[in-house]
Amino acid sequence: MKILVAGAQGQLARALLGQAQARGGMKVVALGRPQLDLLDKASIPRVIAAVQPDLVVNAAAYTAVDRAESDAEAAFAVNRDGAGALAAAAAASNCPILHVSTDYVFDGTKAEAYVETDGANPVGVYARSKLEGEAAVAAANPRHLILRTAWLYAPYGQNFLRTMLRLAHERPQLRVIADQHGNPTYALHLADAILAIAARLGDDNGEAVWGTYHAAGGGETTWAGFAAAIVAAGARRGVPQAPVIPITTADYPLPAKRPANSRLDCSKLARTFGVRLPPWQQGVQECIEQLESVPAA
Ligand SMILES: NC(=O)c1ccc[n+]([C@@H]2O[C@H](COP(=O)([O-])OP(=O)(O)OC[C@H]3O[C@@H](n4cnc5c(N)ncnc54)[C@H](OP(=O)(O)O)[C@@H]3O)[C@@H](O)[C@H]2O)c1
Repeated sequence: MKILVAGAQGQLARALLGQAQARGGMKVVALGRPQLDLLDKASIPRVIAAVQPDLVVNAAAYTAVDRAESDAEAAFAVNRDGAGALAAAAAASNCPILHVSTDYVFDGTKAEAYVETDGANPVGVYARSKLEGEAAVAAANPRHLILRTAWLYAPYGQNFLRTMLRLAHERPQLRVIADQHGNPTYALHLADAILAIAARLGDDNGEAVWGTYHAAGGGETTWAGFAAAIVAAGARRGVPQAPVIPITTADYPLPAKRPANSRLDCSKLARTFGVRLPPWQQGVQECIEQLESVPAA
């Protein structure tokens, strides 16, 4: 089975490449700009024709949640139009697509974890562009899997875990939002899940499975809980044990609104594919072990 991953330098794209290489059996070709640019519509069919994949995974996105508020055109161009164009080009080559979306499609007003059939109601530009991207992918390619994930982090790239490790060196205490609830997701765990799903599709029993799934780390926490776990797990790597001071969303205004609850119920993924991501705390431990270096003071 050959997988073409759109996006090469992103957290998930790198994780997919690394995990496929570590496990063997699955050939992953990850291509980003300029070879595969979701804004350059001609590049997409050209790359698909050259690679001849059995599955396309869209790990490319405009992910700057706050910048999107003042840069909506760019966010929609990549997250809606680019995703749709990739799905259409895959369909034209009789190839299914696995598209990655976000927990932020929900407004956060539900008390429990969200299931796939819950109504989406994004509260920011990035989130709206991602929701419209889901619709564009589904319209363009009937053989689609849309995986909504959350709070993604890896040993590389720009993410909350790496920011907290740096700040623990720089500040005597960490003031972190404690009234937003979600599922930290280790990119390598998500990559493993995607590779397992791809293997199931390759088994040729995939016809009934197309649709939307939630795929996030097991358990739940707040950003403050996530931060405390990161700092504690960093102790073995010499990270100063800065205390985490819980604050509210109102204490830390940002351009984009975020849902207070974006917890994802991932049982449909488990029922359909037998795939469940490990508990989020395990992801934190593994990620910190994988870091080549922790930021120095
Ligand atoms: N990060 C999170 O917390 C989070 C949470 C929920 C869902 N997600 C979703 O998970 C997926 C993976 O996220 P991530 O954190 O791995 O993203 P990331 O690290 O920000 O990487 C995004 C990648 O997309 C590429 N890209 C942007 N515009 C492109 C274009 N026009 N053509 C081709 N590639 C383009 C970027 O390429 P360059 O390197 O060239 O800039 C970058 O490599 C995304 O769909 C995201 O929406 C992320």
